[in-house]
Amino acid sequence: MEEQAKGLLKKIKESGIKRNTKFVAVASGKGGVGKTNFAVNFSYVLSNEFDKKVLLIDADIGMANVHILVNVSTKKTLKDILNGEKIEDIIFSTRGFDVLPGFSGIDAINEVEDSTVFQFVQNLNDVSENYDYIIIDTAAGIDNKVISFIRASSKTYVITTPEPTAIMDAYALIKSMKKLYDYTDFRIVVNMARNEEEGINTFERIKSSVKKFLDLDIQLGGILPYTKNIHKTVKKKQIITEVYPSEKFVMKLKHIAAEEVGQPPPPVKEKFWDRVINFLRKD
Ligand SMILES: Nc1ncnc2c1ncn2[C@@H]1O[C@H](COP(=O)(O)OP(=O)(O)OP(=O)(O)O)[C@@H](O)[C@H]1O
Ligand SMILES: [Mg+2]
Repeated sequence: MEEQAKGLLKKIKESGIKRNTKFVAVASGKGGVGKTNFAVNFSYVLSNEFDKKVLLIDADIGMANVHILVNVSTKKTLKDILNGEKIEDIIFSTRGFDVLPGFSGIDAINEVEDSTVFQFVQNLNDVSENYDYIIIDTAAGIDNKVISFIRASSKTYVITTPEPTAIMDAYALIKSMKKLYDYTDFRIVVNMARNEEEGINTFERIKSSVKKFLDLDIQLGGILPYTKNIHKTVKKKQIITEVYPSEKFVMKLKHIAAEEVGQPPPPVKEKFWDRVINFLRKD
């Protein structure tokens, strides 16, 4: 397994060279902290605000749901790759970026062998040079499949919420990756913060533990506020960045994306009625 992983990493590093493709993972210790919403909206911003060519991979093997969030029903899924389908034929485009849907329609996560995932990531080489960014939405936790995606990525956004359990699990993920693989390219994103102070405190707790116990300096990716508009848009199968371009969550996400691409954040593109609605909205 270890030899296989090393070969894979080498191949992936070689594959991005032509276009300088960046592989970026979105991970968390605890589930339900907002990884998939982050990954979808981040992909939207990178492609629509910063003109990057983006492929979003749904790598949540057991619970693929990116296609649900972007409201596209997929005929083919990653499962078809097991039957010899080409990756290019499974990718679909939506809202300016491409999506590689996950393994839906499997009965159990164990149906997908770790070696199949390695094989799949290897095949990604064929398509990766078409993209500036490959964003990988992983499952929560640190099983072998998640680890292989994180190790293949030059950066990993670790999403947490201010809840103590989410903080502990984020720390556990970072600790495992550092101790087992000396992987340290993390950015912390505090999601669902009730205010800036809560976000900063959450980050500081992780930062100080990581420094104290792992002797690692960890950086903040950003703080994203709690917003009811996420629920509203998810229910309507819309995405928040598209529908509420000037909402605080979206503006903060754009800052993270701007930092990612090394450009200044885009100006607010607010329509007149958006401004009126945002002013009147009290939630
Ligand atoms: N900033 C936010 N404010 C309010 N609700 C949010 C926010 N971010 C995400 N949510 C909500 O939290 C829930 C979980 O989000 P999401 O599915 O993106 O998490 P996840 O980490 O991908 O979960 P899983 O571990 O199951 O894959 C959803 O109901 C989503 O609408
Ligand atoms: Mg998810």
